[in-house]
Amino acid sequence: MSGEAGPASGGPGKRGLEVVGLEVRYGPVRALRGVHLAVPRGAVAAVLGANGAGKTTLLRAVSGTLRFHRGAITSGTVSFGGSRLDGAQAAAVVRRGVVQVPEGRRVFGRMTVAENLRAGALGVPGRRAAAARERVLELFPVLAERAHQRAGLLSGGEQQMLAIGRALMAGPSLLLLDEPTLGLAPLMAARIADTVRQINAQGTSVLLVEQNAAMALALAERAYVLEVGEVTLSGPAADLAASDEVRRRYLGVGAPDTDRPVGTDPGAADGHQSHERHERTRLARWTA
Ligand SMILES: Nc1ncnc2c1ncn2[C@@H]1O[C@H](COP(=O)(O)OP(=O)(O)OP(=O)(O)O)[C@@H](O)[C@H]1O
Ligand SMILES: [Mg+2]
Repeated sequence: MSGEAGPASGGPGKRGLEVVGLEVRYGPVRALRGVHLAVPRGAVAAVLGANGAGKTTLLRAVSGTLRFHRGAITSGTVSFGGSRLDGAQAAAVVRRGVVQVPEGRRVFGRMTVAENLRAGALGVPGRRAAAARERVLELFPVLAERAHQRAGLLSGGEQQMLAIGRALMAGPSLLLLDEPTLGLAPLMAARIADTVRQINAQGTSVLLVEQNAAMALALAERAYVLEVGEVTLSGPAADLAASDEVRRRYLGVGAPDTDRPVGTDPGAADGHQSHERHERTRLARWTA
């Protein structure tokens, strides 16, 4: 199966997502600065970053939903398939094949599972919607079992499946996922990760925002570290996973000083040794 069912699936060789020099503001607050990022067709890219780093803002800038949050792109460009997305309305971005699954899996709680899925296919021609529905129910059989239940009664993991399923109803060529495993038990998080892998194997590119760095780096080919609105590190996901900095800050392993009992030898310089180590050269680093 491929992206053929999607409204915006491109021909071979078409360019993927390209973000260049992006700056975003919410009124006086600058949330992103000079962000460069690319998701080639068919790839999975991950964005790591702490709370407030700007991850959701980046996805909003791509999906055309910033304006719903009183935000705006003030510099730079977002392109997909070689043409510009910045300035486009959210609905137009969806028609171009770029669909966001928002943070916090906001399903329509009072509507049934089937109605939620139908809502994801608004504007999609009937035959395509039927094919998309089949694909979604194949990926998430539990949604077929629960078709007539209210979405609000599903478990957190099932609601995440429904949120992803709803996005897939539009037949996206690029799926934007905002922390899909947040708050889920490890087993459910692993299932979601498997699903992301499957969706990608079926031809959909994925831009994945995650605080679960280990999972994101295992899924992605390329990854970006966002810190206070700027990309500070980027490169092949395997290289990031092996870098001291990422291991220490996002994977919680690898630093020699983390084993030291609290309160011993205050002010010792050992905690800084790993900073000086040379990391793999394929990683690109930005310093402001
Ligand atoms: N609607 C808004 N109005 C004003 N400032 C905002 C708005 N949304 C986000 N911000 C600010 O922009 C910055 C980036 O926020 P964003 O939500 O993109 O971060 P995040 O990396 O997704 O964080 P989290 O991990 O908590 O989801 C933060 O300083 C945040 O306070
Ligand atoms: Mg966020």
